[in-house]
Amino acid sequence: MEEYLIYKNCDLRNRPNIQIGKGAVIQESVWIDARGKVIIGEGSNIGRRCVIGSGKLVKIGKKVLLGPGTYVNDMDHAYQDITKPIMDQGITNPRPIKIGDGSWTGINSVVRASMGKNCVLGANSVLTHDLPDYCMAAGQPAIIRKQYDPKTKKWKSLNWINRIGLLRKVKKYLAQLLH
Ligand SMILES: CC(C)(COP(=O)(O)OP(=O)(O)OC[C@H]1O[C@@H](n2cnc3c(N)ncnc32)[C@H](O)[C@@H]1OP(=O)(O)O)[C@@H](O)C(=O)NCCC(=O)NCCS
Repeated sequence: MEEYLIYKNCDLRNRPNIQIGKGAVIQESVWIDARGKVIIGEGSNIGRRCVIGSGKLVKIGKKVLLGPGTYVNDMDHAYQDITKPIMDQGITNPRPIKIGDGSWTGINSVVRASMGKNCVLGANSVLTHDLPDYCMAAGQPAIIRKQYDPKTKKWKSLNWINRIGLLRKVKKYLAQLLH
């Protein structure tokens, strides 16, 4: 008996590079292209129509819930050479993407960076920067909106000044002004 469940219409390419943990469930119509390694941890649930692409490593922890249509990919097409069609330019440096144990991604979210443990990525969000443990991020690009505070043992909303996305934008703007 298989120790995990794969529903119908899934396309798992380069199957030897895909490791699926005990009790994991791959829902209908999931596409995984594992040129690099793909590791799906024990008890994780890969929602319908998820797409996972790996040039190096996509590691999904234990008990991770990927909402339907989540896209996780650790590589891009190179586009810098204007004399060639992008499809002929090859793949840019893949870098490992890890999704921490117990995390959850909302429907149709795009994961282009790593997530810590028990993180939430809101529906339709695009994650471009790594998330620490225990936070909720959302938006395009996703910014941290709530974070667990170990001192008070409560989740706190981050006000606009603390939102790392905004700070990053201000820093970038100032750097451009100074050049
Ligand atoms: C993230 C989520 C869980 C809400 O968490 P929450 O702690 O209740 O967050 P709140 O509703 O209090 O929202 C906090 C802030 O994040 C914003 N926000 C929440 N979800 C968002 C999203 N998906 N995209 C953009 N912003 C979002 C809110 O507008 C709010 O912003 P504000 O502080 O400027 O008003 C929910 O919005 C979500 O996206 N769920 C995913 C549902 C899904 O895809 N399910 C699939 C089944 S597995």
